[in-house]
Amino acid sequence: MGPMIDEVAEKDKKKEKKKVENQEHRAEARKIEVAHQDKEEGQHPLKMKAEGVCAWFGTKQALYDVNMPIYEKEVTAIIGPSGCGKSTLIRCFNRMHETVPGSRFAGDIFLEKESIFDPRMDPVVVRRRVGMVFQKPTPFPTLSIYDNVAIGLRLNGTRDKKVLDEVVEKSLRKAALWEEVKDSLQKAGGALSGGQQQRLCIARALAIELEVLLMDEPCSALDPISTTKIEELIHELRQNYTIIIVTHNMQQAARVSQKTVFLLNGKLIEYDATEKMFTNPENKLTEDYITGRFG
Ligand SMILES: Nc1ncnc2c1ncn2[C@@H]1O[C@H](COP(=O)(O)OP(=O)(O)OP(=O)(O)O)[C@@H](O)[C@H]1O
Ligand SMILES: [Mg+2]
Repeated sequence: MGPMIDEVAEKDKKKEKKKVENQEHRAEARKIEVAHQDKEEGQHPLKMKAEGVCAWFGTKQALYDVNMPIYEKEVTAIIGPSGCGKSTLIRCFNRMHETVPGSRFAGDIFLEKESIFDPRMDPVVVRRRVGMVFQKPTPFPTLSIYDNVAIGLRLNGTRDKKVLDEVVEKSLRKAALWEEVKDSLQKAGGALSGGQQQRLCIARALAIELEVLLMDEPCSALDPISTTKIEELIHELRQNYTIIIVTHNMQQAARVSQKTVFLLNGKLIEYDATEKMFTNPENKLTEDYITGRFG
C-alpha cells in the first residue's frame, strides 16, 4: 500500500508543479504582451464614448444599446454584414443621424468629458470637431482644389490669403496629396481621380479644427493602389487624430485598426483589441463572421 500512496502523492506533486509552471508561463506570456503593447502604443486616453446608443428610422430600430469607448490616436474599425447598422452608428458620433427626417436617437455620446447632445453643444461645432469622409468622394466638383480645402475656413470667416494658403498647403500635405496637385491648385476638384478626390475630402476635413475623423467605407469606390494610399494615410493621421472607420474588408480592418467592434442586427456583439478579435474572438458569431461563414 505504502509505495502506491507515495506514487500517487508523487504524481500529484508533479501535477501541482506542472500547474504552477503553466500559470507562471501564462503570466509571463501576459507580461510580455502587455509590455510589448505599452512600449508600442502607450495607454491612450478616452476620446469618445457611446453609452446605450439606440437609433431609429421611423419605427424601424437600427441600433440597440450600443456601448463602446473610442481611444485617442487610435483607429477603431466597425465591421459587420450589410444592414447591421455600421453607417447609422458612425453617423451618431457627429450627430448626423438626427439630420435624417423621422429619425430618433436615445442614449448618449461623449466627446472627452462633454455630451455631444448637451444643449450648449452646437451640432455644427460637433461636426467640425468630429468630421466625416464618405464612401463616395464628395468634393465640390466645380470648385478648385484650393477652394475645396479652404471652404471650411472661409465659411468660418477667414479672409487672410496668407493664412488660407498656409492651411491649404498644410492640409494637402497631411492628406498626402500636395505633391500631386501643388502645380494645379486651380484645377476643378471634380477633375481628380477617385482616390485623389477622397484624399481631397480628407484634406478638407483636416483644414478645420478636426479631432476625430469618421470614415464610412472610404475605400470601397477605389482601386487597390488608391486604397493602399488611403490606408497609409490613415496610419499617418493616427499620430495626431482619432479615427473611426467602417469597412467591409476584414483585411483592411485588421491592417489599419487597433480596436474593432463587430455589429450584427444593430447589436454590438463584440468589442476588443483588433489583434484579439481577429485571432481569438470570444463570441462564436464573431468567429463565424470573420472566417467568412456569413455576411
Ligand atoms: N434613411 C433610412 N431610412 C430608413 N431606414 C434606414 C435608413 N438608413 C438605414 N436604414 C436601415 O437601418 C438599418 C441599418 O442601416 P445602415 O445603413 O446603418 O447599415 P450598414 O451596416 O451601414 O450597411 P451597409 O454595409 O450596406 O452600408 C438597415 O436595416 C437599413 O435598412
Ligand atoms: Mg453603410
